Amino acid sequence: MDARYDLAGRRAIVTGGAGGLGRGIAAALRDAGATVELWDANPRALDAAASGLGVGRRPVDITDPAAVDEAAAAAFAAHGRIDILVNNAGILGEVKPVWETDPRNFEAVLRVNLFGTYLVSRALLGRMRLQEPRPGIGGHALRGHVVNIASIQGKEGMALAAAYSASKAGVIALTKSTAKETARDGIVVTAVTPAAAETAMAKEISAARRADILSRIPMGRFVEVEEVARMVLWLSSDECSFSTGGIFDLSGARATY
Ligand SMILES: NC(=O)c1ccc[n+]([C@@H]2O[C@H](COP(=O)([O-])OP(=O)(O)OC[C@H]3O[C@@H](n4cnc5c(N)ncnc54)[C@H](O)[C@@H]3O)[C@@H](O)[C@H]2O)c1
Repeated sequence: MDARYDLAGRRAIVTGGAGGLGRGIAAALRDAGATVELWDANPRALDAAASGLGVGRRPVDITDPAAVDEAAAAAFAAHGRIDILVNNAGILGEVKPVWETDPRNFEAVLRVNLFGTYLVSRALLGRMRLQEPRPGIGGHALRGHVVNIASIQGKEGMALAAAYSASKAGVIALTKSTAKETARDGIVVTAVTPAAAETAMAKEISAARRADILSRIPMGRFVEVEEVARMVLWLSSDECSFSTGGIFDLSGARATY
């Protein structure tokens, strides 16, 4: 990718880094000069992704509070600081009306997408706010950037995906809340709300569901992984200095607010 942002010297963590969007985001951060570490619960996919990209790896299940805290401590010990956190790990869950869903599946989706994002934010933000600030553009002190990967479904809701949509709405509220808490610490917290992308997640749905989702996107196509990565790159850079708490659409005009 054309590296328009200079992230040399920055240390970044991408959760769910073995997946489709995670790999694309990690490649963009790496190409901009950042040292990147992938976190993922799937050790095999993690090894393949990290080796393929030539970046670091840390096997961690983001739903396990002790494992997340241990991983955060180890990452800080290894890198000295963390400048960029991309909370990207997520699961879709079953595609059914609420009355047919399994409560354990509903809980599992919230556990990964919302609770896991909270746990990683908790462990990293607590440490990031204590690290030395850097002078950002205009001399404003910066300690880091956090980008949460939500979904357009978190803004609009989506039939047959209540758990997923609710979890992503939660990620949006978590983003706004943590941004308020860190606003004076020089930590910029944002979220993106992509429409569907061609990753493993999109392959979990039926052809009819896929056509339905496509029909909702006025641009008439899915978002490219690189398009998501380019926005995350800007949100992770010093250029993004005052947009904390912002929720950024990547919806091909699907979003109506
Ligand atoms: N693909 C889409 O259409 C789309 C659209 C909008 C938002 N998103 C969001 O983008 C993010 C990335 O999705 P993707 O499309 O790359 O999916 P993906 O399935 O390719 O990747 C998700 C990754 O998260 C990892 N993961 C799952 N549970 C985990 C856990 N407990 N701990 C650590 N890692 C875990 C998986 O092992 C996998 O590598 C997700 O949050 C997803 O909700 C995806």
